[in-house]
Amino acid sequence: MKVLLFVAAVALIHGSYATLLIKGPTQPVLEGESITLECLYSDSEHNISHVHFEVFSKYMQRWHVVWERSWCYYSVYIEQVGDSLFLTIPRAGRYYEGPYRCVSDFDNVTAQENSSQLLEFKVHYMGELSLTREGYSSYLGVPQELKVRAGDDVVVKCSASSSEELSYSWQKEGDDWILPLSKLSLKKVSRESEGQYTCMAEHPSVESLSKKRTISITVLPGPSRPRPARGPLMTILTRSPSTNQVWSLYPPPAETNNLWCDCTSRWLDEGEGNGRVD
Ligand SMILES: *[C@@H]1O[C@H](CO)[C@@H](O)[C@H](O)[C@H]1NC(C)=O
Ligand SMILES: *[C@@H]1O[C@H](CO)[C@@H](O)[C@H](O)[C@H]1NC(C)=O
Ligand SMILES: *[C@@H]1O[C@H](CO)[C@@H](O)[C@H](O)[C@H]1NC(C)=O
Repeated sequence: MKVLLFVAAVALIHGSYATLLIKGPTQPVLEGESITLECLYSDSEHNISHVHFEVFSKYMQRWHVVWERSWCYYSVYIEQVGDSLFLTIPRAGRYYEGPYRCVSDFDNVTAQENSSQLLEFKVHYMGELSLTREGYSSYLGVPQELKVRAGDDVVVKCSASSSEELSYSWQKEGDDWILPLSKLSLKKVSRESEGQYTCMAEHPSVESLSKKRTISITVLPGPSRPRPARGPLMTILTRSPSTNQVWSLYPPPAETNNLWCDCTSRWLDEGEGNGRVD
């Protein structure tokens, strides 16, 4: 702003030509807030009707004319009021940071009359907190209640998109420790590990953006044994009526997955260790 006032003052002293100015937010904006930018000449002799807004696309690496549009979340309105041209963004988003400039439509103007300084502002935002269990599909996330087996290692990562690096911490309800990390690591869980765990994420500049999410961890009894590298999730153990021999897969799966079958059935060997119950 100081720079703009200085430029304007120089132009007024010289008196011969005006300066195209841009005004807008002087401090960071929150996502969802409304923003207004203004183009005006330092000298009211100049007609702002022949000026337009441009925005620099970081993605395309070039300047674009800003057009009016009303597409719900992406609306932009341009309106001339008196000697000023206003650009209104009803809901600021993370892609609206600019830089912006005001540019004259004419090519018979001086550099100061032709384009303004650049205006850029910060839009602060923070997305929803997502919790993912390490080694598991991050697409599914973590259910509100996480069931784990006694003896397992559990690593839960807390994350969110944000305009600035967040500071994360974990806390367990009823305990007084605070773990200042985004990852909660529980080694060889037991019944004592059960409870409500809360991840907190604080935005360094905007306290009101801070968020929390809680999961409850339930520990199921019995150590989990390694799952077979391939093969069915449910294993059928069956007794051959002729030999009375118990068939099973190797390695032996956890008890809860077993289904005993004492009926008359045949175990068919399909080769390479794959079997099928008939
Ligand atoms: C500015 O330009 C517009 C459109 O060309 C015209 O209608 C308007 O009268 C002009 N205003 C001044 C103050 O010259
Ligand atoms: C006016 O400014 C724009 C943007 O900087 C530039 O592309 C254009 O050539 C300039 N025109 C004149 C007449 O200076
Ligand atoms: C610049 O050009 C526009 C139209 O091309 C004209 O209306 C205007 O009077 C010109 N200005 C000067 C200072 O020559």
